[in-house]
Amino acid sequence: MKVGIDLIHFATADYYLGLDTFAEEKQTELDKYIVGIGQEKMSIAPPDEDIVSLAAKAAAPILEKIDASQISAVLFATETSVDQSKSAGVFLHGLLELPSRCRVVEFKHACYAGAAALQMATTMVKANHKEKILVIAADIAKYDVDTSGEATQGCGAVAMLVSANPRIIEIESGSGYYTDDVMDFWRPNNRTTALVDGKYSTKVYLNSLKHAWQHFVEETGRKFEDIDYFCYHIPFTKMAEKAHKTLVKKVAASVTQEQFDKQTLPSQVYNRIVGNSYSASLFVGFISLLDNVKDNLAGKRVSFFSYGSGCVAEFFSGIIQPGYEKVLMTGDHLRQIEQRQPLSYQQYLDYYHNQETLPENIIFPQTNKGPYRLAGIDDHKRYYEKTT
Ligand code: CAA
Repeated sequence: MKVGIDLIHFATADYYLGLDTFAEEKQTELDKYIVGIGQEKMSIAPPDEDIVSLAAKAAAPILEKIDASQISAVLFATETSVDQSKSAGVFLHGLLELPSRCRVVEFKHACYAGAAALQMATTMVKANHKEKILVIAADIAKYDVDTSGEATQGCGAVAMLVSANPRIIEIESGSGYYTDDVMDFWRPNNRTTALVDGKYSTKVYLNSLKHAWQHFVEETGRKFEDIDYFCYHIPFTKMAEKAHKTLVKKVAASVTQEQFDKQTLPSQVYNRIVGNSYSASLFVGFISLLDNVKDNLAGKRVSFFSYGSGCVAEFFSGIIQPGYEKVLMTGDHLRQIEQRQPLSYQQYLDYYHNQETLPENIIFPQTNKGPYRLAGIDDHKRYYEKTT
C-alpha cells in the first residue's frame, strides 16, 4: 500500500517587504540580497496574523475537497508557537470545526519539525490505512532588527493531507538522519526573535547534509543518479544552492550547470519571494517544484532534505504519482503571492514592534485580509475569527 501526500496547499501573509526597500534603508548593495543570499521579498505578517490563522488559510481549501469528518489526527509543526501549553493544532481544530474524534499534537524542533510530522503521519497511516492525517508546518521567521538574520525573515504555512493511495507523492520507506547538540540558532522561552550564529549555522547545515545523505544511502541503497529533483530546507535560496553543490561534490557527480539548475531551481521560485518560513520552507519548496515544472513529473523521484538548527536533519525521498497535476492548487498559490501588498520599511517596523509583547487584553483591527484572523486576546486567551 502506497502512503504519502494526497493534497498539499500553502498560505502566506498579505504583505511583503521587498529586499530593494530593505537594501535602501540599510544602505547596502541590493545584489548582496538578490545575488548573495538569493532573496527578493519576504512575506510579513500583520498583528492579526499568526501561525494558526496562516495554518487555517493553508488547510481550508484541502478540507473543502474531502470529507473533513474523516480527519483522524492533526500534527502541527512549528518553531513559533502561540502557547507554551496548548497545541496550536487545537486552536486550528476549533477554527476549522474538525471532528472531536481526532488526535492533535504539536511538533517542535526548529525547522525540522515539519519533516518529523510528515514521517510520523506516514507511519500512522501504514499502521492503519483508514487514517487521514492533516499535517501542518507553519512559522513566522523573526530576527532582531539590524542583525544579519533580518534579511532572511518571512512567513508561511503548508497543509498536507497524508493518506493511503496518495494522489501527489508516495513517501518512500527509509531515510537518513543526523542529530548533533549545537548552538547555531535558538530562541529562549522569553524571546519572540531567534538568536543565530549565522555563518556557523550554514556550516552546520552543510555538515548535517553530508551525514544525513550518507545514512540515507546506507539505509535505502538509492544513489544521487536515482533522484530527479532535489528539495532542500531553504532559509534563503543561496543555501539550497550551497547544499546541492556540497552534495554533488560529496558524491563526485558529473553534473552540467543546466542539469544542476534543473535539479534545484524549480523548488526555489516561491521561497525567493516568500522568505524563510522555518518548518514550512522545505514544503513551500516542494510546492514550488510541483507548480513550476511544466514537464509531467509522474514517476519522478524527489528528495527532501530537512534541517532544523540545534540540530536535527533528515534526508528522504518520494515518487510523484500519475495524475498529480489534476489536484494541484497552483492558481491559488499564485493569486496569494501576487495579491500581497508591499510595505515601506517603517510599516514593516510597525507590524514588527506590534507583535513584540502581547498584552493581556487586546482587540486587533483587521489588517489581515482573511479568510481567518487572530481577532484579539481576552484575559490572555487568544480568539480567532473567520472573516469571509
Ligand atoms: N553582490 C553579490 N554578492 C554579495 C554582495 C554583492 N554586492 N555582497 C555580499 N555578497 C555575498 C557574500 O559574498 C556572501 O556570499 P557567500 O555566502 O557565498 O560567501 C553572501 O552575499 C552573504 O553576504 P554576507 O556573508 O556578508 O552576509 P551576512 O553575514 O550579513 O548574512 C547570513 C548571511 C549569515 C546567512 C545571514 O543571512 C543570517 O544570519 N541568516 C540567518 C541564519 C540562517 O538562515 N542560517 C542558515 C542555516 S540555519 C537554517 O537553515 C535554519 C533556519 O531556517 C534559520
